[in-house]
Amino acid sequence: MRRLLLSAALFALAACGQSEAPPPSNGAATAPAPAAQPPAAAGPSAEAIAAAVAALPAPYNEANYEAGRRVFAQCRSCHTIEAGGPNRVGPNLHGVFGREIGTMANFNYSPAVQQADFVWDAERLDHWLDNPQTFLPGNRMAFAGVRNETQRRDLIAYLMVATAAE
Ligand code: HEC
Repeated sequence: MRRLLLSAALFALAACGQSEAPPPSNGAATAPAPAAQPPAAAGPSAEAIAAAVAALPAPYNEANYEAGRRVFAQCRSCHTIEAGGPNRVGPNLHGVFGREIGTMANFNYSPAVQQADFVWDAERLDHWLDNPQTFLPGNRMAFAGVRNETQRRDLIAYLMVATAAE
């Protein structure tokens, strides 16, 4: 179900990206849109992000993506999220939703994580981020947790969109 909704969100992202193209010219000498996306690294437009967030399952469809991105500052020193990004102190998180815990290649997980057996979804991530140590005792993520529920909602919505983007 969540995978399905996420696919819908990504489809929305892709669709929005395409609609960025200017309409066929009617002959008027309109200047090219200066906001045209520079190649690579630019990321999706604000409209595409808004559409992707709106397509997430509740309560994440009401999240503040920008606020979530700011909460992710707490994770950034240890985690990258882009496709093919390096592992740091923690594993790369690209595609983490729908992925079995502890399976990012070339990362040396703790025995606690290696022995855990589930697939990451929003609910599990919510518990992990609330308090990593009580959720999975013995794991090596040296992080106290994000105790504020709204911050976790925003962060998870950000991750759902950003870890799935190319
Ligand atoms: C001090 C470094 C550090 C910080 C800060 C940190 N993490 Fe981690 N994270 C780790 C480590 C190390 C692991 C692997 C834990 C293990 O093997 O026991 C991990 C594991 C994870 C996993 C499981 C990944 C997998 O492949 O199964 C997720 C999800 C995660 N972190 C998300 C986050 C998020 C989101 C934040 C910010 C709110 C965060 N982490 C902050 C170090 C960190």
